[in-house]
Amino acid sequence: MSKSVLHTSLCDDLKIEYPIFLAGMGVKGMATPPELVAAVSDAGGMGILGCSWLDADEVRRRIKAVRNLTDKPFGVDLLLPASMDETTTPDRAEMRARIERDYPKHAAFAKSLFEKFGLKPTVSKLAAMSPEFIRKQVDVCMEERIGVFAAGLGDPSWVVPMAKQVGTKVMGLVGNVRNAERQKKAGVDYVIAQGYEAGGHTGTIANFPLIPMVCDAVGPTPVIAAGAIADGRTMAAGLALGAVGVWVGTAFLLAEESNIYPKHQEEIMKGSAEDFIITRAYTGKTARDYKNDVIKAWDETGLKALPMPLQGVLLDDLIEAAVEANRAELINNPAGQISGMLTKKRPAKEIVMSMVQGAEEVIERLSAMRK
Ligand SMILES: Cc1cc2nc3c(=O)[nH]c(=O)nc-3n(C[C@H](O)[C@H](O)[C@H](O)COP(=O)(O)O)c2cc1C
Repeated sequence: MSKSVLHTSLCDDLKIEYPIFLAGMGVKGMATPPELVAAVSDAGGMGILGCSWLDADEVRRRIKAVRNLTDKPFGVDLLLPASMDETTTPDRAEMRARIERDYPKHAAFAKSLFEKFGLKPTVSKLAAMSPEFIRKQVDVCMEERIGVFAAGLGDPSWVVPMAKQVGTKVMGLVGNVRNAERQKKAGVDYVIAQGYEAGGHTGTIANFPLIPMVCDAVGPTPVIAAGAIADGRTMAAGLALGAVGVWVGTAFLLAEESNIYPKHQEEIMKGSAEDFIITRAYTGKTARDYKNDVIKAWDETGLKALPMPLQGVLLDDLIEAAVEANRAELINNPAGQISGMLTKKRPAKEIVMSMVQGAEEVIERLSAMRK
């Protein structure tokens, strides 16, 4: 069988059929299910486990769970914040005390939300991110010799030498040229350029200018396009702008193997592009989420977000209370502007294959224009 026109150099390098990645999505407490990762890899793309908020033991458990489901290559995505305060400890009680002491208005806001939304006072048991927490996560990825290690934020230069030793490819996610140059300097194998339209943490530059600018800045290091890619047209556009692959988040939140809240899937299926807005409310960094009443309440305070990870700690108790009360509408639903185009749930394999077929058709249509 002849190879698809979409079989780029990246496919040979990573031993996959199509240059389509399930983006790393590590939403707190949920993360990407191994079933979804394996389904994307089995379909010929590459599944990435979003593990940013999972402790090292859980990261290992999930890697093994994917291996039980598929023998195809897959990767892990972690957050490596560049600005993480080294004095931060994983002890939540200590961080809460610090917020109460140094940021009393923020603490009062977080408390007021419980009454406003009729939630029982709750204390989150989630681990908080710290340099030690992240170092242990990275160690597991290296020990397990995964195919790809993706760094969602920050500087992976300290991971690159370890990854080279174990044959793991490193990717770094960026939203502007300056960070792309930093990733190149760090020695990553691929730069993922993620535009403003994307779901989750995002920058200010849209994909049309971002992808070609990043390609120009980091070449010959190959670039992967991320943000608002969900069908053949958007995939072909990413490749046309110079990318060798596409990193797809929001579209896979509607995969049948996805485990996000049904309420959140409904928000994606029914919401328009304008309903997915930029906020610092839940993590302290700009992120694109479905606009909900917690974000509205935060905006009304006029407060400045706390530095990561403190803003997350500020709202984690509320999220835990909302989980317990089954109030998904109060929990952050990170998703991109392309939600405005998505209307139905499908198996992950169907999402991959319809992107492949659609992109092949676009390329054929464009080639026919020369005749
Ligand atoms: C629910 C969700 C969670 C995300 N979590 C992470 C994460 O933990 N690490 C990361 O590198 N990127 C994360 N992202 C960004 C994605 O990796 C990806 O770049 C983005 O989803 C691409 O845009 P799209 O959603 O329009 O496809 C997340 C995105 C979403 C939608």
